[in-house]
Amino acid sequence: MTASSDFFRLRYGANTTNVNIAENDSLRTLFSHRSIRAYLSQPLPEGTLETLVTAAQSASTSSNLQTWSVVAVEDVNRKEKLSQLAGNQAHIRQAPLFLVWLADLARLTHIAESNGLPHEALDYLEMFLMATIDATLAAQNAAVAAESLGLGTVYIGGIRNHPEKVAEVLNLPPHVVGVFGLCVGYADPAVKAEIKPRLPQTAVLHRETYQLAAQDEAIANYNEVMKAFYTAQNMNVPGDWTEHSAKRIAFAESLSGRDRLGEALNNLGFKLR
Ligand SMILES: Cc1cc2nc3c(=O)[nH]c(=O)nc-3n(C[C@H](O)[C@H](O)[C@H](O)COP(=O)(O)O)c2cc1C
Repeated sequence: MTASSDFFRLRYGANTTNVNIAENDSLRTLFSHRSIRAYLSQPLPEGTLETLVTAAQSASTSSNLQTWSVVAVEDVNRKEKLSQLAGNQAHIRQAPLFLVWLADLARLTHIAESNGLPHEALDYLEMFLMATIDATLAAQNAAVAAESLGLGTVYIGGIRNHPEKVAEVLNLPPHVVGVFGLCVGYADPAVKAEIKPRLPQTAVLHRETYQLAAQDEAIANYNEVMKAFYTAQNMNVPGDWTEHSAKRIAFAESLSGRDRLGEALNNLGFKLR
């Protein structure tokens, strides 16, 4: 079987060049991704969490330093608190499992200190970025694994609205911060979730050197695709993708409190030199 034009059409919301490459289960899982924001209360099969964490730990990790951890939250009260902190997102309460992915420099601090060794390099922005990248790669492996098991997921960046309070709820030590959460559960079939189109490849794929001006046509096409998508989904999203994105970046207030992330990270022990 060749990669069906259906997958490409759904991912780009338009007819695209057909690619003649053999389709497989991994590609089908990746191409079928959509965020799920309505969950059944149905519990996850035993062993699901361990399977997701094994997938997460199978991701590459910078220098094998493994500067990430994850907190699995299933307790109703704790999910409620995290949901409030993330801007009252109901799907956090609904999903049976909420995973909080952590940039974790505490473990390396600990091994250095308990061996009487210096750890000056941990104070640099580079190490925070490394930990964030590690956590992200791990989380995405877990998300794909969950989807391959027929589960739904949605990332929750809202937990960065209140990083110190999230740290309190999860009992995080210094040098650890929640980067984002991930809801995991069975999608409620009563609430439709369609594949959301992405920018045409002519916007994001550059060959040999980067081209900015050449993206205008692709962006204009995408604005039309997204307008049609929102109309088809009966979603009341004002404006097109350009307007929507421009609003999101216009002012510091659009960051929902995350304009003080640098200060919050300092408070959590990250020096970010
Ligand atoms: C790091 C990250 C943080 C996100 N945070 C939220 C969030 O707080 N709430 C939410 O409903 N969706 C959140 N999302 C989901 C995005 O809105 C979603 O991935 C995007 O609109 C594309 O839709 P799709 O995942 O269905 O393809 C987040 C996604 C990422 C990658």
